[in-house]
Amino acid sequence: MKKIHVTASTEYDISIGSGVLDELGRELKGLTKAKTVVLVSDSNVFPLYGERCLKNLKESGFDAKSFVFKAGEASKCMKTYEELLEFLCENRLTRSDALVALGGGVTGDMTGFAAATYQRGIAYVQVPTTLLAAVDSSVGGKTAIDLKAGKNQVGCFYQPVAVLCDTDTLDTLPESEFRCGMAEVIKYGMLGNARFFSELLEKDAKAMIGHIIEVCVTMKRDIVQRDEFDKGERMLLNFGHTFGHAAEKCSGFSMLHGEGVAMGMATITKAACKLGFCDETTVEFMDKILDKYGLPKTIPYGVDELLDAALADKKIAGSEINLIVPVKVGRCEIEKVPSTALSDWLKAGGVK
Ligand SMILES: NC(=O)c1ccc[n+]([C@@H]2O[C@H](COP(=O)([O-])OP(=O)(O)OC[C@H]3O[C@@H](n4cnc5c(N)ncnc54)[C@H](O)[C@@H]3O)[C@@H](O)[C@H]2O)c1
Ligand SMILES: [Zn+2]
Repeated sequence: MKKIHVTASTEYDISIGSGVLDELGRELKGLTKAKTVVLVSDSNVFPLYGERCLKNLKESGFDAKSFVFKAGEASKCMKTYEELLEFLCENRLTRSDALVALGGGVTGDMTGFAAATYQRGIAYVQVPTTLLAAVDSSVGGKTAIDLKAGKNQVGCFYQPVAVLCDTDTLDTLPESEFRCGMAEVIKYGMLGNARFFSELLEKDAKAMIGHIIEVCVTMKRDIVQRDEFDKGERMLLNFGHTFGHAAEKCSGFSMLHGEGVAMGMATITKAACKLGFCDETTVEFMDKILDKYGLPKTIPYGVDELLDAALADKKIAGSEINLIVPVKVGRCEIEKVPSTALSDWLKAGGVK
């Protein structure tokens, strides 16, 4: 097992390894005075790992209960959030009790937000079971739910008391979800670690998944420690996300997030080359790695559609957009671009 320590507004450990799930009760015991613990999970993940976690929590002396909701992004909403809060009230959770988020980013984001707001804040543990959640959403304390108006429109920064990432849980993850997680993994290589990027290109990702998670989590930890509240460097983690998110939006969110990120990374890299920020080999490397992991490179929407979607994005501050632009493999920069120039970037990226 590997432990990575985070020093943000609060401090916590991220434990990564096979069988870490069985440390849940013991870990929580050492961190809180909780009597009651509510395990929050979705309808796919609870049947796989829920009972094991409940048993483990009970063995550590907790009064463990579960709240299970229908799997999918549509559940990351006001209604499920409200049902969860009512459930916590019905079970008389006090401020010293705790929540456990067992699942992907949907479970983690919503549970984190409920933990942040229930009685002005109770402790929670992240137990990520998707690759995306392991390398990205479970670390750094961004919590949120969606509104009809858009994704993640309500939320706050609220750090967990621990993250337990059991790499064995990824064995049951559908292949398409694994691929999407790989899009985020590739993002880390491109924005800050050329050696890691080469490893991903040369080796089999599944055979070194623990190592992959450790590298990504360490990079994210370092970025979060320097910029917890997303004022500067943390924006680098949006590489591929401005155009990717616009494409997701155009698809009515039928496109998987990782597919959008992959297309977004390919498009911005191509545009960066055309506009003189990076050379042709950077584009070749990006295309090669996306091909290797079966990820899409072309956005199937037009410039006008994408612009409408992108300009409604919350990350667009005023009339300037922070585009994350690759300079070479292993290095990206934040480029302030007027929103009026966005169509030129899309066109340079090959979008019609
Ligand atoms: N907080 C952050 O910093 C941050 C960062 C990136 C993304 N996000 C959010 O994360 C969400 C996406 O996360 P996600 O991709 O994990 O989605 P998800 O939680 O919906 O999980 C994807 C699917 O995999 C299933 N699943 C999860 N673990 C499984 C397992 N071990 N075996 C079998 N099936 C499993 C789930 O039931 C679901 O159907 C989005 O809402 C996004 O906004 C948040
Ligand atoms: Zn993402």
